[in-house]
Amino acid sequence: MISPIVTVFADAHPSDGSLVEALEGGAVLVFPDLDFPFSDFETRFVERPFADGKAKNVNIRGEAAELRGAAGTEEEKEALRQLLIRYRRFSGELVERYLPAYAGKLSLAGTSYRPFEVDQRKLSWRRDDTRLHVDAFPSNPIGEKRILRIFRNINPSGQPRLWRVGEDFGSMAEKFLPKLPGYSPLSARLLAGLRITKSRRSEYDHLMLHLHDALKQDLDYQASAPQADVRFEPGQTWVTFSDLVMHGAMGGRYMLEQTAYLPVAAQARPETSPQRILAQKLGRPLR
Ligand SMILES: [Fe+2]
Repeated sequence: MISPIVTVFADAHPSDGSLVEALEGGAVLVFPDLDFPFSDFETRFVERPFADGKAKNVNIRGEAAELRGAAGTEEEKEALRQLLIRYRRFSGELVERYLPAYAGKLSLAGTSYRPFEVDQRKLSWRRDDTRLHVDAFPSNPIGEKRILRIFRNINPSGQPRLWRVGEDFGSMAEKFLPKLPGYSPLSARLLAGLRITKSRRSEYDHLMLHLHDALKQDLDYQASAPQADVRFEPGQTWVTFSDLVMHGAMGGRYMLEQTAYLPVAAQARPETSPQRILAQKLGRPLR
């Protein structure tokens, strides 16, 4: 069964909760024609990459929206920063309008500009996002939060963003959970004490990191697991829980991305979270 149903969104039904239900169930919501116009000055950001090339992406973080990884003149960098601030606002408005159940509960985190071709750089297997995976952040424990991401293809020359999506989280977890190393609260405290992690890594974070790695390392699984190709055309915006939906980015360049965190308790159905699915598969609460 290919679980993540790709839902093409055509008409507004913001209050009936069906979009939240689909999203929590593992859908990728596609919004084909939301407006996010670029000024004449900003078109340069989709003509060549304004990135220093050291990191995968250019991004802004935090209230101050400090720009990192960008290249260009001071004027260009400030314009790029303003573009990302505007995309963050656009993402917040999308949530308020189409996912009103999450309004006020979701917190917007990093915003990124991704100008490089997906497979342009030869990365280590762990950083190779063409391999099917669920998102997990090694230094930034997530705990009882969900990772919601809002993407937009801003390619100017018709190039789609290509993804593969995989099987449902529960089926994947059943295959991989028995292979994962056990959680050690002691080493979690140690990692936090050494400031390798920003806070204590929970058992959930431990499992998700090892799932992320085990999935990417398993070439048989990558080739033979249930999967489907998806295209996101320029001008399309798509929204998904990237901690739940198995995905790989297969191609495309020039994209904007907003990361948001939602407490599991703020979900319409918390039992659909990877936190609760893993606990259910293990038959006990996570530590
Ligand atoms: Fe990812």
